[in-house]
Amino acid sequence: MKILVMGPPGAGKGSQSQKLIEDYDLTHISTGEMFRKSYERGEKLGIEAMAYIHEGNLVSDEITNEIVRNRLLKKDAERCFLLDGYPRTETQAEALDEMLSEMNSKLTAVINIVVDKDIILERMVGRRVCRNCGHTYHTKFKPPHKEGICDKCGGELYQRKDDQIDSVRNRLNIYESKTKPIIDYYKGRGVLININGMQSFDAVYRDIKKALRDLT
Ligand code: AP5
Ligand code: MG
Repeated sequence: MKILVMGPPGAGKGSQSQKLIEDYDLTHISTGEMFRKSYERGEKLGIEAMAYIHEGNLVSDEITNEIVRNRLLKKDAERCFLLDGYPRTETQAEALDEMLSEMNSKLTAVINIVVDKDIILERMVGRRVCRNCGHTYHTKFKPPHKEGICDKCGGELYQRKDDQIDSVRNRLNIYESKTKPIIDYYKGRGVLININGMQSFDAVYRDIKKALRDLT
């Protein structure tokens, strides 16, 4: 299975991806997570990318395509993967098509999680992420058992810098102008699945699973 998970910032891409990769045994490839990890390791790529990320801007297509290409070439991505947050521009969508055709492969499904702007803002402000394993929580909608501590691995929870209001607004504008148009790119290929993301975690997941079952 080769899946893309798309949607505006805060739509629940990461939250739903965490469940999907466990249930379907997929390799999770989140470009945002790769940039953040690279930054934490003090790498040049991560430090350069973070200057854009903190402001809510996109990292260049060139850099992003390159890290995805390298990641897809690894053994664990050969059979099945889930791409979370990539592609985000038309240039990236075209580059992904090239990569897949070189791999003699194609997408099984493009899951597009649809959420209104006002809900997104509340989700972003309350989000907390584990510094160690990347698991995502929400102070109101999905609090950890012990405040500030990850249920899964005991790691420290933190708030992403790009979850501040100005950065979130910029990310939403960029989503509308650069990323939303590529949904049409996948329309007509028979792989696009629109999911109502304005429901509980479980209801969203149930709808995704049902749509994936109907595809096969
Ligand atoms: P990235 O990390 O991908 O961020 P994003 O797309 O902005 O999306 P988020 O991770 O913020 O949200 P999400 O949809 O994963 O929602 P989540 O599940 O966490 O990218 C960060 C930055 O990296 C970008 O801005 C860009 O600069 C750069 N970048 C990354 N990829 C790039 C690319 N391809 N090209 C160029 N630059 C790139 O949920 C959010 C919150 O809501 C959580 O607290 C969660 O608990 C809660 N929540 C989720 N679902 C529900 C629900 N159903 N009910 C209640 N609460 C919910
Ligand atoms: Mg995410």
